Amino acid sequence: MNSALLSEIKTTGDLPQHVAIIMDGNGRWAKDRMLPRSLGHRAGMKSVRESVEGCIEAGVEILTLFAFSQENWSRPDSEIGALMAVLVEFINRELKDLKRNGVEVSALGDLDRLGPKSRAAVDKLVRETAGGSNLNLNLCISYSSRFELARAAKLLAQEVADGVLRPEDIDEAAVENRLYTARWPDPDLLIRTSGEQRISNFLLWQLAYTEIYVTPVLWPDFTRTDLFEAIADFQRRERRYGRVPT
Ligand code: IPE
Ligand code: IPE
Ligand code: MG
Repeated sequence: MNSALLSEIKTTGDLPQHVAIIMDGNGRWAKDRMLPRSLGHRAGMKSVRESVEGCIEAGVEILTLFAFSQENWSRPDSEIGALMAVLVEFINRELKDLKRNGVEVSALGDLDRLGPKSRAAVDKLVRETAGGSNLNLNLCISYSSRFELARAAKLLAQEVADGVLRPEDIDEAAVENRLYTARWPDPDLLIRTSGEQRISNFLLWQLAYTEIYVTPVLWPDFTRTDLFEAIADFQRRERRYGRVPT
């Protein structure tokens, strides 16, 4: 069933080159089972593995995952601690397989806000996976799209102040080049789990013409089959970019 769906999306063609996911619903998954929220976050790790492996199987080149927002720093300390512990555990457990699978990891966000232990683990993950050529995996950690845009504006202003850039040369490409995502094309497909129909300060610039897919599945229940279903749905869409239908 799984493999039939996989070969269907591969033969239909027109795969999304870049998939982004807002991984949401860990807390509700735990609540449904009368478990502490931290166990929901832990259970979400296998869904990260599912989506990484599913992207490689399908031939998606770039996967961008929203793991922790700047707004998430306002959660209780115990919850932040649990999320950071899961991040470190994920890195310790998955580093070997990520390298073996040729996954190159980048971390996008204000990493200076991370504690020393999680920062060291993230730096190690990025360093040791450098050069992987099967999948670019972007982990958005301590990420806020408005922060990213304000940061880009600050970088541009500094270049103008330094006399290396003229205000009239600031165009869309100039802004894009100063975003964390400068190396990659915009996402083709955005998936949000747990049914919430909002962007929550994720990739506001980059999602301008991204196809959005919301699934009620809670993140810890998300499998590669759910990913393939999202891709199949994407393949039935008509992307118009403001033009008339062809
Ligand atoms: C996603 O699950 C994880 C993060 C946002 C860090 P939530 O913790 O937001 O789970 P819900 O939305 O409360 O179910
Ligand atoms: C978005 O989920 C952030 C991540 C998935 C990391 P949230 O659970 O924080 O978003 P809201 O509060 O429902 O908008
Ligand atoms: Mg949530």
